[in-house]
Amino acid sequence: QTIDLDIEEIEKGGFDHFMLKEIFEQPRSIKDTFRGRLSADLNDIHLGGLYSVLPRLVEAKRIILIGCGTSWHAALLGEYLIEELARIPVEVEYASEFRYRNPVIYPDDVVIAISQSGETADTLAAIKLAKSRGAMVLGICNVVGSSIPRETHAGVYTHAGPEIGVASTKAFTAQVTVLTMIAILLGKHRKTVTNELATTLINELGSIPAKIERILESNSKIEAIARLFKDSTNFLYLGRGYFFPVALEGALKLKEISYIHAEGYPAAEMKHGPIALIDDKMPVVVIAAKDSSYDKVVSNIQEVKARKGIVIAIVSEGDTTIKGMADYTIEIPEVHETMEGLLAVVPLQLLSYHIALMRGCNVDQPRNLAKSVTVE
Ligand code: AGP
Repeated sequence: QTIDLDIEEIEKGGFDHFMLKEIFEQPRSIKDTFRGRLSADLNDIHLGGLYSVLPRLVEAKRIILIGCGTSWHAALLGEYLIEELARIPVEVEYASEFRYRNPVIYPDDVVIAISQSGETADTLAAIKLAKSRGAMVLGICNVVGSSIPRETHAGVYTHAGPEIGVASTKAFTAQVTVLTMIAILLGKHRKTVTNELATTLINELGSIPAKIERILESNSKIEAIARLFKDSTNFLYLGRGYFFPVALEGALKLKEISYIHAEGYPAAEMKHGPIALIDDKMPVVVIAAKDSSYDKVVSNIQEVKARKGIVIAIVSEGDTTIKGMADYTIEIPEVHETMEGLLAVVPLQLLSYHIALMRGCNVDQPRNLAKSVTVE
């Protein structure tokens, strides 16, 4: 007797698409990323791959984070995290720009390349350039043994497991988890993070998987919101601080799998141009969870509503202020401000997934896109 098994169906583990499976895997993949690396009891972070280079990293005069696409968005979050917690100046560059524009690179700079596949041609070329100028180059990669980890001096694997969907989801949250650990580690060594704060941050990072589980429970609510906007032709995504890179990532996810035009903007920049786009047909996704710029974002939502825009807001659990103003809200649990991006991106991944599906798009293999871009 033989059983007809479709390998791909088995690999999807009961989900309709790899992307959905990978979104739902995030509580586990994030745990895999920090497994054996976080110790709340010892108040410590262990990143074995950085052990040999730690003194140079701690003393770096500047860190340059490079990547493409979603990995570049993770880099932007990395800038905010490292500057906030470790007080080292950080620059974020698209690998493709960095490699062609004759950048200033000093020998005491540390370049960190971020890549899911470890094969992105522009990122590889940027690494070679930085090495030729004497900088130490580290990698944050998902695919073990790929070209970037072999080309860099040291690095950290994200351990998110294979990501098949072309739209990056769990690799992004794994990259941000690694960057958060690096920022805490550097902050501890540079004494810009007290022991007390380190304990809080380590515990908060440990709480992320369970909080993502709670967000995933909103999947059908998000699907219902997606149904209302599946025929929209434009979307605006707004966020401040840690939510600005998340706005960019939310817009990229929508663009690449649903082919709807979407733009991410820092919420305060809206008044410098994009506000002209807003009318009663424009869905505006505002990431407005409680953080230090909450009041400012509330004003931005009022500005959108005053122009009849439709607001879909990502808010903190229990928020009543924004619920009274926005058209639709999706709640996320509260967490330390530095880690809110890890939570806020999840409903945006689901929103794009459902919209793309309802439009009949191939979510796992969008047109014109490859999983890893090995051409220049
Ligand atoms: C993400 O959803 C995209 N498909 C794409 O932007 C991707 O992040 C980019 O090509 C970088 O790939 P990498 O992380 O493998 O280097």
